[in-house]
Amino acid sequence: MNYFPASTATPLRGGPTLRWGVLAPGRIAADFVQTLHANSDQRMHAVGSRSLDRSTAFAARFGIERAYDSYERLVADPGVDIVYVAAPHSEHRVLALLAIAAGKHVLIEKPIALTASEAREIADAARAAGVFAMEAMWARFLPQTTVITALLADGMLGDIGLVAADYGSIFDFDATSRAFDPALGGGALLDLGVYPIWFAHCVLGRPSRIVASGSITSTGVDGQAALLFSTASGAEAQLSTSMIVSTPVRATVSGSLASLDIDAPFVAPGGFTVYRDGTDEPLRWDDPTELRWRDGLVWQATAVAQHVADGLTESPLHPLDTSVAVLETIDEARRQLGLPA
Ligand SMILES: NC(=O)c1ccc[n+]([C@@H]2O[C@H](COP(=O)([O-])OP(=O)(O)OC[C@H]3O[C@@H](n4cnc5c(N)ncnc54)[C@H](OP(=O)(O)O)[C@@H]3O)[C@@H](O)[C@H]2O)c1
Repeated sequence: MNYFPASTATPLRGGPTLRWGVLAPGRIAADFVQTLHANSDQRMHAVGSRSLDRSTAFAARFGIERAYDSYERLVADPGVDIVYVAAPHSEHRVLALLAIAAGKHVLIEKPIALTASEAREIADAARAAGVFAMEAMWARFLPQTTVITALLADGMLGDIGLVAADYGSIFDFDATSRAFDPALGGGALLDLGVYPIWFAHCVLGRPSRIVASGSITSTGVDGQAALLFSTASGAEAQLSTSMIVSTPVRATVSGSLASLDIDAPFVAPGGFTVYRDGTDEPLRWDDPTELRWRDGLVWQATAVAQHVADGLTESPLHPLDTSVAVLETIDEARRQLGLPA
């Protein structure tokens, strides 16, 4: 017997396609294009870098038709439908606004911006221009997340009381890297904490109270942080993030009827287990696809192509107001840690 709702992840093949352009061909841009080309019908049409050598090398590596020596030239290409912003956090606002001003749809790496105020600016600009805009919160579009959000909405776990989620990964110390440099938007909360914080928002909605504790690196960013998050309905979330230690990258949700444990890492394709009160038999859901780890970046791309084909300017699964709300939580956590706004 199948106890679970069906996955509503957008199929990877056979649906609408977009001609993509990528700004800032670094590490995540490579992972994104690799899975886009290997696992979907979407195609990266152009790449823009601050250096022609880098854009040309990236284009050759992935069979991309056009390589530009500036971000401005890429957004001006009439052959590009949507711009994927894959630069460090400090550049997200300016590059998203550049793409929107050129009339392009835009997918912006996480976190969508450095602060909630910057995120509102992007949302306002996209809404005024009538283009599609979304933060690349890829975990929301994975098959298991579509099943989990449906079973939560169906009340399978009962009334939700507790959420726990963590994301810690060791980043080698380099004061000039985007992880440790405050000028590039470094820090665990913005880089990795955005995932457990998004997860708590996704399950519980906005918090009514946040208590944050953390430690600051010698470069002045948060090396790690722990958050308690309470909602008006009496639910609590316990969230943690670190660039100093690794954590299992787990997420659990506990309700009055059952609890749910998502396989680690919860941000990538995988399965989950439901433990029902009053029975010793857990219920298991496994991802039926072959996609593992960052191959899962592709699900958000096919969902975006479908949204655009449907005439939407935001994703109902991950709307801009959710990105703003998550950054409001990060703003408050950073304020409590004594970090600059
Ligand atoms: N979804 C995920 O699993 C995942 C994983 C890792 C990172 N990310 C996100 O992806 C984004 C980029 O991370 P990344 O690790 O890929 O970054 P990265 O490799 O360090 O940098 C990406 C590119 O940004 C460009 N860039 C523009 N302005 C820059 C500046 N001031 N300093 C340095 N580089 C600059 C550079 O390309 P050009 O100079 O050639 O234009 C650089 O190669 C971040 O938002 C990060 O949080 C997501």
